[in-house]
Amino acid sequence: MAEGELVRFEKDGDIGIIIVDNPPVNALSPGVPQGIVDALDKGNADASVKAMVLIGAGRSFIAGADIRQFGKSSAPPPTRRHYDVMDQSPKPVVAAIHGYALGGGLETALACHYRVAVPSAKVGLPEVLIGILPGAGGTQRLPRLIGPKLALEMITSGRHVPAEEAHKLGIVDEIAPEGKLKETAVAFARKIADKKPLPVIRDSDGKLAEGTPELFDNMRKSIARRARNQRAPYACIEAVEAACKLPFDEGAALERKLFDEQVGSEEAKSLRYAFFAEREVNKIPFIPSDTKLRPTDNPAVVGAGTMGGGIAMSFADNGYDVKITDATPEALERGMARIKANYETSVKRGSLAQDEYERRFARIHPVPSFDDLSDCDVVIEAVFEQIPVKEEVWKKLDAVMPPGALLYTNTSGIDIDIIAEATSRPQDMAGTHFFAPANVMKLFEVVKGTKTENDVLATAMALGRKIGKVSGLAGNGDGFLANRSRAPFGMEVNLLIEEGALPEQIDKVMIDFGYPIGPLAVADLSGLDIGFDTRRRRAAMYPNYRKQPIADAIVEAGRLGQKTNAGWYKYEPGDRTPRPDPEVARIIKETAAANGIEQRSDITDDEILKRLLFASVNEACKILEEGCALRASDVDVMWLHGFGFPRYRGGLMYWADTIGVREVYNQIASWHQRYGDRWRPSNYLRQLAEAGTPLKEAKAQKAMP
Ligand SMILES: NC(=O)c1ccc[n+]([C@@H]2O[C@H](COP(=O)([O-])OP(=O)(O)OC[C@H]3O[C@@H](n4cnc5c(N)ncnc54)[C@H](O)[C@@H]3O)[C@@H](O)[C@H]2O)c1
Repeated sequence: MAEGELVRFEKDGDIGIIIVDNPPVNALSPGVPQGIVDALDKGNADASVKAMVLIGAGRSFIAGADIRQFGKSSAPPPTRRHYDVMDQSPKPVVAAIHGYALGGGLETALACHYRVAVPSAKVGLPEVLIGILPGAGGTQRLPRLIGPKLALEMITSGRHVPAEEAHKLGIVDEIAPEGKLKETAVAFARKIADKKPLPVIRDSDGKLAEGTPELFDNMRKSIARRARNQRAPYACIEAVEAACKLPFDEGAALERKLFDEQVGSEEAKSLRYAFFAEREVNKIPFIPSDTKLRPTDNPAVVGAGTMGGGIAMSFADNGYDVKITDATPEALERGMARIKANYETSVKRGSLAQDEYERRFARIHPVPSFDDLSDCDVVIEAVFEQIPVKEEVWKKLDAVMPPGALLYTNTSGIDIDIIAEATSRPQDMAGTHFFAPANVMKLFEVVKGTKTENDVLATAMALGRKIGKVSGLAGNGDGFLANRSRAPFGMEVNLLIEEGALPEQIDKVMIDFGYPIGPLAVADLSGLDIGFDTRRRRAAMYPNYRKQPIADAIVEAGRLGQKTNAGWYKYEPGDRTPRPDPEVARIIKETAAANGIEQRSDITDDEILKRLLFASVNEACKILEEGCALRASDVDVMWLHGFGFPRYRGGLMYWADTIGVREVYNQIASWHQRYGDRWRPSNYLRQLAEAGTPLKEAKAQKAMP
């Protein structure tokens, strides 16, 4: 047996064992399918073998296809695909599943006659999440096995199904005790070795009658909102529908055709890009990969307000016991009541089971004093956004936290170094910036202070992932990375309104682009008074601050957003649908006139889209120039998980490349002529445009401060 063989064949008495050994996750890279075919041939030719087990070496079954191969011009498909060879195998084949059996991995397992799995294993067909559909029979075999309704749900959501659930659904035949997969699968193989006929999924059509035209029509309707502008989810439905209508081989041919059409589409390319960007974001070039992380087993949250409550929930939702405290018993009680109410809403909506809510809530431990935090190894502070308050809180925390404890602040904009210097150990401090609502939004922006130690940053990045977030690193510039790159977008929204665009026009453009909700409807949802107060404060601080008279006039008219049933839109009581309001149009017109702002009627949808997004592309280039972001793809990840940017457009910078770096630069330069300094092009952007370097390849131009 050659060293480094991707697939090995061994024997355990009368059972042949096919071991896929392609670290780290046994992806179906070139060579693996052929190796499986050869091993099957060996087992079938060996008279002493009665049945075979297919198993993965290391930590997983076959986790899936090798995504890096997608979209590359591939070699012609092999004449004998392992799926077909398994279907036709005269001896039974049992898939033994641990870790993951996703995509091509589950398709392989479905081509086996039986499936055994350990409880921690997960199966699924997540192809839709990268803009494609299962392309090796998954859409044909799964509906035959579990019925088209359940198959549609799994294939269009792409979700990972835990083994126990897969067992109930009929995907898995037997659950093996954890750690005893191989012996259980071998015993199972022995038990069924002589059973005839072999259960071959492609030959069974017992459940396909459930596939009525209404089932598919309803499915199309139910995904219409989340699948807007995308084709893959519909291709998944079309392929499952074909499974119900056509013989297996014809259905499989249609599946393959749809797969080939999708795999090179812009949608699939963007989603693959996002997938890899989310892996890249975890790499911090200046931190050695063997950096030892500090413990984060006993977290605490200080400040039980909107954010602190959500942060504590994020810990509890991910299995952590967490302490929480506030300045007064009343504030703490209010915070706990809000957490409880949030959980209860989820229970009422049906998204959280009562017993799971009780378990999670019981993990959040309110404590009366900072002294109770002395046994915690990490604290996240989320008190008022005021420097003196933060300084006072951190002085107290410095006195009680044990040496080496991780000191994290959720400030949205205060200089991390100022907060760090309030303690005697600035090296242990970093920003961990959550986005509201903190228990829902995935972005976890880690902010490096001047003195932050590498292990403090690396541990923050890892902690974010442990509580189900997507971590990304930012430098300690004004507004850090995410909000700073988003700020010009918000500014352009207001300026376009001054120039004569209506809220409903702007929101429609952004929804058509792919946002779940428009920026003005979002503002109404969050409350317009927050921005109003910030503008007041900034105007008092900076003499040249650009006022926003129309946004102010809306608030001054008592329109604070949804909470007053009026903001940029009007709302019927108890109904969150934003309705265009002639009163808003009147306020806009009159305020513009009173402030000598010239309005125009020729604002196009194209101008709106580009004004909002190009302004942010330009700012992102400035951030990279200053070294406050590591790479353009980190900006993209932050926009996907912090601001609802449509994933099938890759991200802000990736999307801008679809317009072209030169065109983006030229447009910004021409708006610089028209509007002045706020459109001053970033030098780095100019260099990229001159060199024709795609924006998605942009990188930090300096070491992170
Ligand atoms: N609200 C957001 O959207 C958002 C988003 C990201 C970050 N942040 C940041 O999170 C932090 C908290 O914001 P929030 O919206 O939760 O505010 P909040 O007003 O809802 O909550 C702040 C909490 O801190 C408590 N507090 C005040 N002084 C304290 C002290 N001395 N000791 C202990 N607790 C004290 C208050 O009683 C209150 O419960 C701020 O730094 C803010 O900038 C907010």
